[in-house]
Amino acid sequence: MSRPPTTSTDAAARPFRTVNPGPAAGAPDGVEGLALIKPAVRAQSAYTLSAPAARRKLNQNESPWDVPPALKREVLAAAEAAAWHRYPEFAPPELLAALADHYGWTPDGVLVGNGSNELIQATLATTLEAGDVVIAPAPTFSLYRLLTGVLGGRYRPVPLGPDFAYDVDALVEAAARERARVVVLNSPNNPTGSALPGGAIERLLEETGALVVCDEAYQEFGGPTALPLLRETSRVVVLRTFSKALGLAGLRFGLALAHPAVARELAKGKLPYNVNVVTLAAAAAALRHGDELAERVRLIVEQRARLVDGLSRLPALAVYPSAANFVLIRCLRQPARDVFRRLLDEHGILVRDVSSGSDLAQCLRISVGTADDVDAVVAALGQITDGER
Ligand SMILES: Cc1ncc(COP(=O)(O)O)c(C=O)c1O
Repeated sequence: MSRPPTTSTDAAARPFRTVNPGPAAGAPDGVEGLALIKPAVRAQSAYTLSAPAARRKLNQNESPWDVPPALKREVLAAAEAAAWHRYPEFAPPELLAALADHYGWTPDGVLVGNGSNELIQATLATTLEAGDVVIAPAPTFSLYRLLTGVLGGRYRPVPLGPDFAYDVDALVEAAARERARVVVLNSPNNPTGSALPGGAIERLLEETGALVVCDEAYQEFGGPTALPLLRETSRVVVLRTFSKALGLAGLRFGLALAHPAVARELAKGKLPYNVNVVTLAAAAAALRHGDELAERVRLIVEQRARLVDGLSRLPALAVYPSAANFVLIRCLRQPARDVFRRLLDEHGILVRDVSSGSDLAQCLRISVGTADDVDAVVAALGQITDGER
């Protein structure tokens, strides 16, 4: 085998360096460049998150546990054996077969992505023409609105009902009236935790002509799945992620399940080679360790019940029912912003402050963590809200 060329000593002696130019003194103000950005894009708020370090990180609905050490070792061994100078396969056939088996679908109807967010993007990119309407409940995951705007669609949010329960009548009515191209349903819904009631997707399919995209990022934690409907219609796309129940948020892996003819078209909206060799190996390993990871989901569901129970005893909070791995609360007697700050500053607990949304006034979202995390959050909120009876 020919040996790779060695690095020239000259180059090695001069490590790559850039001169930090400092603040953009004298740089142009950006007006000319900005004028070329689509107005619909400039009108959107960016998806950002500033997350200070904290002892207990309960702000992104991640698994509280790193993956089992054996799983990590398998992935590292596969990564070591892989050729890093070669592009990955789009998706190894064995992985597609294992995914199809896991979700009860056919390998040619499975599309893998660098996180499921990428597949939301591919789905909207391949379906929306300028001005097409996307219907989704409100509040929900903010990325749907952002991507619809970037892609030139019109986003039409439909408010959830009392206690953030899904209002299926209103969704059906709006989708039919607006002749929606796409309806996006996140169930259980982020950030409310609400699960779709049985029969909701069937009604949307019967009473509208829309593609129904079911983002089931949190489905393992509760609520119905749309997977069986894949056998009955080609107007359903189901999105799944390995970031939550399977604990692989750091490696970015998600998938779309759709009719094979639809999946082939959605694939055109993705970039090639988007899932790297390490992630492909990790996805396969996670499926092999499925039972162990499923046991963790069971533990989280148990802790969710304890969290809801503990928080429901605090009179200064309203607690909403959740089928996911997080719980939404409303602060009834103090600004949510203050409660968020005190949780972080005084107790080292980072939750998600979602209270800036008009429909989420005074709300915080708390990821379900370990039993110890749950005890700590309940005790801390008890202390913070105690003076406010
Ligand atoms: C509704 C929803 N969909 C998808 C995702 C996850 O996406 P990804 O698979 O890209 O990590 C999240 C994560 O926060 C989410 O809340």
